[in-house]
Amino acid sequence: MSDLPESFDEAFLVSERSEWLRRTFPTLLDADLPPEVEPFSFVPASGLEEVASAVRVGPGGLLVDIACGRGGPGMWVARRIGATLCGVDSSPVAVASAARRRDAFGLGASARFVVGDLTGTGLDAGVADAVMCVDAFQFTEDRDLAARELRRVLRPGGRLVLTCWEARTPGDADVVERFATLRCGEVLRAAGFADVDVAERPAWEQRRRAVYEAALGTDPSDDPGLTLMQAEARTALAEMPRIKRVLATATNPE
Ligand SMILES: C[S@@+](CC[C@H](N)C(=O)[O-])C[C@H]1O[C@@H](n2cnc3c(N)ncnc32)[C@H](O)[C@@H]1O
Repeated sequence: MSDLPESFDEAFLVSERSEWLRRTFPTLLDADLPPEVEPFSFVPASGLEEVASAVRVGPGGLLVDIACGRGGPGMWVARRIGATLCGVDSSPVAVASAARRRDAFGLGASARFVVGDLTGTGLDAGVADAVMCVDAFQFTEDRDLAARELRRVLRPGGRLVLTCWEARTPGDADVVERFATLRCGEVLRAAGFADVDVAERPAWEQRRRAVYEAALGTDPSDDPGLTLMQAEARTALAEMPRIKRVLATATNPE
């Protein structure tokens, strides 16, 4: 049996039981991350600062965090810029956990979380002043539909900020399919986004490598989250030289 969970619901249930995932992992990723963030992703504190700046939302604006997971990165950004927040995720376990964690950020009713899909969020068209999507776009089964959905929920002029990975060589057979065929710039332009920029962030990737190496260097324990990370590390370290870490930004022109 694989050590990897079969669904994100299962992975988030593991995370609830894992001291290593909630406490040790964020510190290994970046000691500057506030403890309440508890990310389920690989964006360091400087990266969240970049997201907060790139969304270009002022106090009171609505930030939508699509594929928000347990909500930490989105709540950190919303608190930083004074925005209201709507987090969307396909995992009911993650959405329930995010809602429970609002008080840790002092956000209360200014943050809400709903179950929805990257390809169909259930949100009204044009509601969002900005959309962020952290380390999740690769999981959708229909990238074109998902990109159109990200644009649909944005108001005219609204900004999209997305973090992901892409193969260095498109179609690379030694890279998992979800990265091998993903070209963020192409899919966002095809969905009608303007000002599309895709920038590599190698320093973030060095931090991911450090997490994996630390996990593999730790004796196996009873912690299910550590076991999960060790399994991921074995695959991910091998393909890391073949993929690049990217931050994509774009604007909904109309
Ligand atoms: C690596 S986690 C990132 C979570 C969160 N953004 C963070 O930074 O902590 C990927 C997330 O994508 C969500 N996800 C995967 N496929 C999805 C889909 N088709 N629609 C919505 N969310 C999805 C998962 O449930 C999970 O929460």
